[in-house]
Amino acid sequence: MSALAPVIRIESVSKNFGSFEVLKNVSSTVHASEVIVLCGLSGSGKSTLIRTISALEPIREGKIIVDGVDVHARGTDANLLRRGIGFVFQSFNLFPHLSALDNVAIGLRRLMKLSKGEAHRRSHLLLERVGLSHRAAYMPADLSGGEQQRVAIARALSMQPKVMLFDEPTSALDPEMVGEVLKVIKDLSAEGMTMICVTHEMNFAREVADWIWLMEAGEIIEKARPAEFFENPQHASARRFVQSHLGRSEVSTLRESDANDHG
Ligand SMILES: Nc1ncnc2c1ncn2[C@@H]1O[C@H](COP(=O)(O)OP(=O)(O)OP(=O)(O)O)[C@@H](O)[C@H]1O
Ligand SMILES: [Mg+2]
Repeated sequence: MSALAPVIRIESVSKNFGSFEVLKNVSSTVHASEVIVLCGLSGSGKSTLIRTISALEPIREGKIIVDGVDVHARGTDANLLRRGIGFVFQSFNLFPHLSALDNVAIGLRRLMKLSKGEAHRRSHLLLERVGLSHRAAYMPADLSGGEQQRVAIARALSMQPKVMLFDEPTSALDPEMVGEVLKVIKDLSAEGMTMICVTHEMNFAREVADWIWLMEAGEIIEKARPAEFFENPQHASARRFVQSHLGRSEVSTLRESDANDHG
């Protein structure tokens, strides 16, 4: 087995919402342990693309294979498939009446049919992994946005997914909480998780992405290594995108080094 086995294969995928073509003949591959940062202007089709990968949206044409499973084939069990794909949304979607621990444990109990003791044991380990052991008993309303999002990540990880998909995981957070969530995603990358992350955090993209895909009007118009993407983008739209996002990126660099300076 090559270290670069394809884990997600997107083959000539097209999709419409009515007469509007939201994905136009998109093809791309994600190999094992790669981190893809998917970016592009609002409405370019980023959410739709990652939603089709986890069968949250149907496609009109083409094929998507995740870990050997044809996602949209008749006969594919979408529920089973989604267990192998962790999906983290912009809004944290925790169950408000369950503690952080039980939010992580619920899938282990209901879907994997583990005993309460074993589900809680694993959930404690998952909370530890996202730096939240000390918040196990907290209710979502008593957690910060960054903590809630980390619980949501722990919950997604509980199903031992082969792939993690993130749709703007930090967009709903106050700026001071963005870093803690990105750090968890970065740690996952270091552990070899295969991921696609939709984000506008260009600093994160530069540091963590193996590849950056830029979408425009339903197509991936640029696929590049971060260095190429930022220093020498090929497409005129990519150049514009990079220019308009550099300002923000520099601001967050300052913030991070500030934080480091002051411990
Ligand atoms: N359920 C739907 N029905 C009709 N049109 C839709 C639907 N979902 C998305 N669209 C349209 O498809 C286009 C792509 O939407 P999508 O949410 O994938 O964009 P995006 O790149 O994720 O944008 P954003 O950065 O704002 O999240 C948009 O023009 C959107 O209005
Ligand atoms: Mg979106």
